[in-house]
This record gives sequence, C-alpha cells and structure tokens, in this order.
Amino acid sequence: MCGIVGYIGYRDAFPIIIKGLQRLEYRGYDSAGIALFDGKDINLAKTKGKVEDLKNKASEISQKGSLGVGHTRWATHGVPNDVNSHPHYSNSGDLVIIHNGIIENYESIKKELSKRGYIFSSDTDTEVLVNLIEEVKKTEDVMLGKAVQLALNQVVGAYAIAVFDKRKPDEIVVAKLGSPLAIGIGEDEFFIASDASPFIEFTNNAVYLEDEEMAIIRLGKEIKLRKIKDDSVAYPRILELQMNLEEIEKGGYEHFMLKEIYEQPRAIKDTYRGRLHADQGLIRMAGIDQNLEKFTNANRIIIVACGTSWHAGLVAEYIFEDLARISVEVEYASEFRYRNPVITDKDVLIAISQSGETADTLAAIKLAKEKGAFVFGVCNVVGSTIARETDAGAYTHAGPEIGVASTKAFTTQITVLTLIALKLAKAKGVFSETKYHEYLTELETIPAKVERALESNPLIEIIANVYKDSTNCLYLGRGYNFPVALEGALKLKEISYIHAEGYPAAEMKHGPIALIDEHMPVFVIATKKGHYEKVVSNIQEIKSRKGKIIAIVTEGDEQVRDLADHVIEVPETLESLTPLLTTIPLQLLSYHIAVMRDCNVDQPRNLAKSVTVE
Ligand code: G6P
Repeated sequence: MCGIVGYIGYRDAFPIIIKGLQRLEYRGYDSAGIALFDGKDINLAKTKGKVEDLKNKASEISQKGSLGVGHTRWATHGVPNDVNSHPHYSNSGDLVIIHNGIIENYESIKKELSKRGYIFSSDTDTEVLVNLIEEVKKTEDVMLGKAVQLALNQVVGAYAIAVFDKRKPDEIVVAKLGSPLAIGIGEDEFFIASDASPFIEFTNNAVYLEDEEMAIIRLGKEIKLRKIKDDSVAYPRILELQMNLEEIEKGGYEHFMLKEIYEQPRAIKDTYRGRLHADQGLIRMAGIDQNLEKFTNANRIIIVACGTSWHAGLVAEYIFEDLARISVEVEYASEFRYRNPVITDKDVLIAISQSGETADTLAAIKLAKEKGAFVFGVCNVVGSTIARETDAGAYTHAGPEIGVASTKAFTTQITVLTLIALKLAKAKGVFSETKYHEYLTELETIPAKVERALESNPLIEIIANVYKDSTNCLYLGRGYNFPVALEGALKLKEISYIHAEGYPAAEMKHGPIALIDEHMPVFVIATKKGHYEKVVSNIQEIKSRKGKIIAIVTEGDEQVRDLADHVIEVPETLESLTPLLTTIPLQLLSYHIAVMRDCNVDQPRNLAKSVTVE
C-alpha cells in the first residue's frame, strides 16, 4: 500500500507533493514524509500521523526546491513512527528513496551491508534498499539508473520506488514491480505518483510503468524506460488521461464517502451508458462480444476478489446461476491462490477489483492464466494492473472512489456483472424474449430508484442515532440479499469499529440467535421479492427474543412494519436487482453512525484502499 509522489521541474515541489500526498492518503495514512532538494542540500521532514501533521512538521524545514519526493505510509516493516517514515537516506546522505511495497529478503541484505559497515536507523526494508543501491553504485562505479537496476536484481518482493541523488539533481529514477507507478509528463517537468490524481491539474499525459520496468527521468530529456531484468530498452506508452479535478474533490460534501454514496445514480448510469440499449433489446460489451463462446462454452465461472468486490462477486453468483444458468464459484483471491485449485482451459475466471491493484487478486489472475483459463477483469481504475493483466474486461465507470469504504464501486460492479449475465442468458437462449426485455427496461429505471432510496437519508440519520452506541450488530438477508447483509456488516465495522456480522437469515438459528437480546440491533433485508415470507418468520424469531429490528422493506410494506422497530423503504424492483437498492440505506447507516462516533469516515484506522501487499 502506501502512496508515493515525486516532482522534478521548475515549480515549487512542496505544494505539489503535499497536495498529491493528500490525494493519495487513501492508500495509507499512518505516517508521512517529504524530502526536497533546495539546490544545495536535502531538507527532510517526516512524522507519524497524517499529511496534515506533516505540513506542520515541514514548517521547521526549508520548503524550497523544484525536486522532491513524498510518501504516505501504511506500515509493513516497523511500527508507524517518525524514524520508520519515508523518505529514507542512504548512509552517505546522497541518495533519497521512497518506496511502496515489501522487500522480502531485506534481512539477509541488511546483514551483508552491516558487515560492510552500513548503519541503519530504522526498522524498514526501504532503508536497506537505498543502501544496497548506494553500495552497488560505489562498488560498480555506475550511474544511479544502472545501480538501481543491478540492486533490484538482488531483491525479492514488490516495489514502486523513486530515488534521487543530490549530486545529480536533474534526475529521478523510478522502478516498479507489483505496486503501481504513474509518470505524468508535462513540459519541462515530470510528476511521479502511485496514481494520476496528484498531477491531474498539470498534465493529461501519463506513462504507467509495467511490472519489471524502470525509468530514468531526466530534465530536458525524453524519459528512458528499461527492463529491470536485463537493462534492455522498453518503450513508453503515453496515455491520455480522462480524469478531471472535480471528480477527486469533495464537491461540498463533508466526506468522500457521502459524496460517493450520492454519486451512485450517476455512476450506475455511466456504467451501462453505451452498453444497455433497452429500446433495441441490445447489450453491447466489446469484451464479452469478442469472447462470447469462451463464456457460453465454459464449464464454470470462477470469480475471485477481496473485500467489497468479493461481496459483489457473491451477488454475481446468484445472478449468473439464476439468469444465465452457468455454474459459478466465488473465491477469496487470497485463499484461491494458495489452494492449488483445479483450473482448466474450460474455466473462465472473472476478477473483480475497484483499484485493479489488489495483490491477492492479481496473483489469482496469474495462476489462472498459467493453467490456461480465460481471464476477464471487472475494474474501476482505467489502466490499472489488473485491467492490463486480464485477457479482456469491462470497466465499471464509477469514477474515482476515494473513501476507503467502498460504495459506488459495489453497485457499479453489480451493474456490469448483471449486464454480462443478461448477455449470456440471451446468447445461451435460456431466457424468453419477454423476460429479457423486462430486465433491460427495469435496469434503466435503477438510477431513479437509487435516488428514491437516498431520500430516506433523514430517517436513516435518526435510526443511526438510536444505535450509534451499540457494541454488536447482526445483518441478515436471504438469496440475493445475503451478500448485501455481509456488505452492510463490513461497512459498519470498517468505519465505525462496531463489531458486526452478516448472516444468511435462515442460518441465524444455527448460532447467532444465541446472541439476540434487547441490546442487539438486527438489520434485516426483507424486500417483497425473494423469500419474503421466510424472512418474516425470521423477524418473528428475533422479536420473540426481544432483539431490535431494523428492516429494509419494499415501499408500501405493512406486514414487517407491524413487527419491526424501524423500517426503511426502498422502491420495488426485480428480485435480482434488489441489491442495487437495499445496499443504499445500509451504506448511509454506517456513514451516519461513524460520523456520530467521531470516527474518521474516509480513512478508517488500519485500513487502506488499495491493498498491494498480501
Ligand atoms: C481494501 C479496501 C476495500 C476493498 C478491498 C478490495 O480492503 O479497503 O474497500 O473492497 O480492498 O479492493 P479492490 O480494489 O480489489 O476492489
């Protein structure tokens, strides 16, 4: 995880790096640091805490210079403290590095370097790497770029690094394996960052390094790309970015999470725009159209993902099996990759990832590809590693998601997966024309129905106030809404630190029912379509044990209203589309509870948005 930013050019580097770090704080926020070259010396400030704390700390140093690097950290090696924060110096004080990733063999390299007299002030793997580069540079008598290339051939692990040498301040060397790295190309200036958000107001042109590539960025010159393995030349692929500044700012909302919850009607529409043509009875998706037979002939679809994306995968399991009659397995990427799974070339693997950078999901993709499976990606971040590594894919078009707790990524992933399932159902002929049309037309009404679901916000705030001090909560759902219960519980624990569990409603009898008493709030998804009567029976069971019932129901429902302590209505829709609506009140509930508990909603403790380590 961690976010890295660098600048070399003619402007003041300080404000660019600080702003850039703030935009990358979603990647990690337990400590931060900055190093600037003022023409003579390197000035360095680093601190435990957030970029805001770094700004205060940096008032003690000179903020001059047009060359600098910065870092926001999610600790892997060494506790979050000032010393372990990046940037790190080499022993001579000439080289400075920032690093996102893990150097797995750092202990053996550290021992070797210690024998040669190197001294380490931090517990980090990064300080070892910068000294290894220094040692190689000295012993081989080579330029910085070559020293970085040789040193990286000795390390095992993952990295996105930026290094500079104060004796050669017209150059920054960057390299990537496993962690993302983008280079923004301006006129007479270059930007380096974990994603493009730190430099979007300066340039639309970016190069995304591929794994095992490095770049020598020198002022007044074209950037030089090389392969780390053999130092051969690689060619930069300059992309034109579509992102705009408005999308990555809060736009009047108090938190990114709230903004992103409210963006869902637009995000869902953007996701099906140009794909769904209800009037013509058509779904166009190039990635599926070009590989249709792979899907229709598949033995099964394996879905791999982590976190919220895994929950979207669970919803997709219901959709694919129910609508397209294709057998689906949903796997945690982290388990799948180490399980020696049976995969054949008749399998299709769908990887779901908002960031497109999650290390476990990426590893699962590589494994499936080795075994001959066709791999399809559902990602949000355009040009991300997973989007590039998969055989084909479909973007979600949710726009940048900055709040660490995923919201619009979830509903747009479900939208894409629904479109795919409908396409396959049609291609396989398992759906009548009438039913197919009904789905297409209904899907088009979803953005307006999400808007309506959002109108319950004031009521949800009142309910949040009642339950904000709970210590445990239970979330129940059945069928399509079982994954929504899991997602509701995840949202609450992530941002408000209240313990919450999601369960299939009927499974409650096999354990969680023992926990129910008058102090236990139980959030039940009880929409009209989908096992309604059975869920009503589950509600009765909770009520007779005095549990507090907060039910998500279909507009106009009377039966549950009589039983529940609170009801929140969502509009009626087809059963398989209900997760797109029922998830909305649960997102808002978690949001308000977290705000009332004074939690950091957008940057919950210990979490990061993009998990690029295993
Ligand atoms: C982290 C984030 C979650 C996200 C998960 C998977 O845990 O905090 O919000 O769902 O990673 O990330 P991905 O980018 O692969 O969807």
